[in-house]
Amino acid sequence: MLQSILKERDLPALLSRPEMLEILQREEYGYLPEKPEAISWKVQNDCIPSFCAGKVTAQRVELTVTLRGKDFTFPFIAVIPRGDGPYPFFIHINFRPDVPDRYMPTEEITDNGFAVLSFCYNDVTTDNGDFTNGLAGLLYPDGQRGPTDPGKIALWAWAAQRVLDYAEQEPRLDMTRAMVCGHSRLGKTALFCGATDERFFLAHSNNSGCSGAAVTREKVGERVEQITRNFPYWFCENYKKYIGKEAEMPFDQHYIIASIAPRYTYVASALEDQWADAASEMLACVAASPAYEAHGLRGLVCEDRLPVAGDEYHGGSIGYHLRPGLHYFGREDWNRLMRFVKE
Ligand code: GCU
Repeated sequence: MLQSILKERDLPALLSRPEMLEILQREEYGYLPEKPEAISWKVQNDCIPSFCAGKVTAQRVELTVTLRGKDFTFPFIAVIPRGDGPYPFFIHINFRPDVPDRYMPTEEITDNGFAVLSFCYNDVTTDNGDFTNGLAGLLYPDGQRGPTDPGKIALWAWAAQRVLDYAEQEPRLDMTRAMVCGHSRLGKTALFCGATDERFFLAHSNNSGCSGAAVTREKVGERVEQITRNFPYWFCENYKKYIGKEAEMPFDQHYIIASIAPRYTYVASALEDQWADAASEMLACVAASPAYEAHGLRGLVCEDRLPVAGDEYHGGSIGYHLRPGLHYFGREDWNRLMRFVKE
């Protein structure tokens, strides 16, 4: 059944990872900036005293990157279980700087044996069309972008990769188990981040929908037209070419998941999130699976039907669940994700 639905959607065939990343960057997200010339940090220990009854350490880190001769600083908070580790860890690209946060049940995460490093995307560069502030200001001093220059999603993803640079020298973090996660626009960001940086062991997209985990062709809810009208600055200028011309796109969103292979991907959908379109999110996982099979792995291992609430597929290298409820990144999503990682 799923293969016949996919046949109707007529998605472009998978290509090699470098080819898919090239197309995604040129046509959709813009090219990821180069690595910074320098990176340094200032650490404030015990920034949330007694946090989690002393079971963790919480540090506030101010990360400074030098790019194209200019400096830019943004903060993140690292919460690490007490002990030597090394602990598997999430880099959570969040909407708010708060720890804990309604999208980040920190104590539950660390009680499960994970560390979590989180930052607020607006502290990297604002979620609007202003390309003169924060990281964007280093690249676009006059605020003007060319057709393939990175949009905000690529810039937030780049920042998460810099948090990973920091993690590399923290012995309590297990670099073989580095994961990136985010919700909605930041789920799109987490996928792009994981796809473009092979140091990540897993990328998690929570309810990311259009231009994230969901295939675009025949998608319901949000489409290229709405997303590029409301949020043109998330993408490169080229993406607008495909308004109403989705069938002509030389790519679809299964490319972003296939670019994470052979590393793990986790896609979480919500039943009442029709704007994101759970069926199209699951179909992207199915369509990306041959990229895993090419490595001798299984992609999504699932029933041969569209998802129903309560489905959870943890048998392959692509994990998936569809939970009841609204567009949200909550405990249930985190718990299912953490179970997938532990299994
Ligand atoms: C809007 C947008 C979505 C996005 C969401 C979010 O609904 O249309 O594409 O995922 O915001 O980030 O919350």
